[in-house]
Amino acid sequence: MTPELMAAGAKALAEHRSKTGSVIVGEEVYFGQGVALYVDEITVSFDGFRALNKLSLTIDVGELRCIIGPNGAGKTTMMDIITGKTRPDSGKVFFGSNIDLLRLSEPQIAQAGVGRKFQKPTVYEQLSVFENLELALKADRRVRAALFHRLNGEQMDRIGEVLALIHLQDQAQRTAGLLSHGQKQWLEIGMLLAQDPKLLLLDEPVAGMNDVEANEMGAIFRQLVADGMAVLLISADLEELVGLSDTIRVILRGRLSGDFDPDVVTRDQLGAAMTGAAADEGTLR
Ligand SMILES: Nc1ncnc2c1ncn2[C@@H]1O[C@H](COP(=O)(O)OP(=O)(O)OP(=O)(O)O)[C@@H](O)[C@H]1O
Ligand SMILES: [Mg+2]
Repeated sequence: MTPELMAAGAKALAEHRSKTGSVIVGEEVYFGQGVALYVDEITVSFDGFRALNKLSLTIDVGELRCIIGPNGAGKTTMMDIITGKTRPDSGKVFFGSNIDLLRLSEPQIAQAGVGRKFQKPTVYEQLSVFENLELALKADRRVRAALFHRLNGEQMDRIGEVLALIHLQDQAQRTAGLLSHGQKQWLEIGMLLAQDPKLLLLDEPVAGMNDVEANEMGAIFRQLVADGMAVLLISADLEELVGLSDTIRVILRGRLSGDFDPDVVTRDQLGAAMTGAAADEGTLR
C-alpha cells in the first residue's frame, strides 16, 4: 500500500469514527468526578416549535433526580435526547465525564450503560420471571456469545441479585403474565438491571400502581441509588414523587425550574410552576 492510500484510509476511518462515535465505544465511563449525567443547554426544535429550550441538568452518581411536568412539557423529548433517539440543535450531553452521548448511536448509548424504561411494561407474558431476566441478560451484547449456552455461575448470581433488588425472589418461576401491574413494572426494571446500567431513565414508572406497590417501588429506587446508580425519574403526578428524593424540579415548555423541596412545596406552588403562572425568571431558570 502506498503512503497516499494509507493516509486516505486513515482519514476515511477518522471521519467514519467521528460520525459514528465508534472511536470511544468500549471506553469505560468515568465517574471519578461524581457526575453521572451532564446535560448543558440543550435546545431542540420540531418545525420551528422549541420542545427544549436551553435545558440543563446534572445527575450525580448515586442520585435519584425527580422531574415533574405537564403534557407536552418536553419530558419524553429530554429522554430521547439522552438516549440518542433525537439529536439536539445545540447543547452538550455527557455520560460520566468522558462519554459524549451526542456522538453515539442509540444502541451504543445503551451498551455504554444507560438504561431506559418506557411507560408501558413490555415483559414477555408467557415466560417466567426468571426466563424474562435470562433473556434480558443474554440480550446484553457483551454476553451475546453465551446466547445458546447455559447460564454460568456468574450469570445465575446476577439474576439472583436482580430478583432480590426487584422484590420478586418468591416469584421467580411464576409466569410473568400472572404478575400484578406493579410487579410487571418491577420486572421490567429488573430486565434493565440485568444489563448492569449505570444510569436509569424511567418514564412514569409508578403510574397505575396501588399505594402498596408504589411504596415498594420507592424502596426499590432507594436501594438502587444506595448501590451507586444514578436514576432520572419523570412523572406527571406529585404524589408519586413524595418521599423519593430531597428535591424535585418542574419541566415546563422545555425549561427546567430550580429545586423544590417536596416536603415543603404546596400543590398550589407546583401547580403554578406547571401551568406557567410562576414562569418568571425568579422561579424558572
Ligand atoms: N418528533 C416530533 N415532531 C414534532 N413535534 C414533536 C416531536 N416530539 C415532540 N414534539 C412536541 O414537542 C413537545 C414536547 O413533547 P414531549 O413528548 O417531550 O412532551 P412530554 O412532556 O413527554 O408530554 P407527555 O406528558 O404528554 O408525555 C410537544 O409539544 C410535542 O408535540
Ligand atoms: Mg411523554
